[in-house]
Amino acid sequence: GQAGPLSGKHILITAGPTHEPIDPVRVIANRSSGKQGFAIAAAAAQAGARVTLVAGPVSLPTPGGVARVDVETAQQMADAVEAALPADVAILVAAVADWRVEAATKKLKKGDGPPELRFAPNPDILATLGTHPDRPSLLIGFAAETNDVVANARSKLSSKKADWIVANDVSGNVMGGSHNRIHLVTSDGVEDWPEAAKEDVARHLIARIAQEFS
Ligand code: C5P
Repeated sequence: GQAGPLSGKHILITAGPTHEPIDPVRVIANRSSGKQGFAIAAAAAQAGARVTLVAGPVSLPTPGGVARVDVETAQQMADAVEAALPADVAILVAAVADWRVEAATKKLKKGDGPPELRFAPNPDILATLGTHPDRPSLLIGFAAETNDVVANARSKLSSKKADWIVANDVSGNVMGGSHNRIHLVTSDGVEDWPEAAKEDVARHLIARIAQEFS
């Protein structure tokens, strides 16, 4: 990577949604544009880090200097994250589907009526890294919340054994939008950041990470 405050560091980022197949032509998906995660990957590369970006299905260009691994399902995302370890920092921005479907191998036919889908839980990638033998020294999760934003982030911080939770208030027009309003929740307390463009939120987060290593 280039010279910068994070040169020599490996930063692993997940971004975008996951798609869980129902049959060969249909999926269940989470709503995520991938914009915030891609902006963080771009900012990390600009700060000199070696960046691995594990991306769910999105149509966004790969930021310069970023090694991208494309995946579709949560299980593939979990496997790609595991394969990318060790990392100094992991920032898990992806909106991972909590459940997968026991998918049909052939296309379901409309004439057969609405299918009864059977769900199974997906691995929680953030919680897995929280107790992993190769746990990144700075483990950062995201939490999109519409209410009790900080309280929910605090409970995620402890249940998933993360170091930071970047809580974003999605009660407004954040999903797919260009701006984000962040509360950074750490064991030390809460930082309320002003609403800003996702690129600025990304640069602010990367600067905050660099400060942690300085
Ligand atoms: O529990 P919730 O999905 O709200 O937690 C959000 C955080 O956990 C995000 O950082 C997200 O990327 C991560 N996560 C994950 N694997 C899952 C579910 C969530 O890494 N299966």
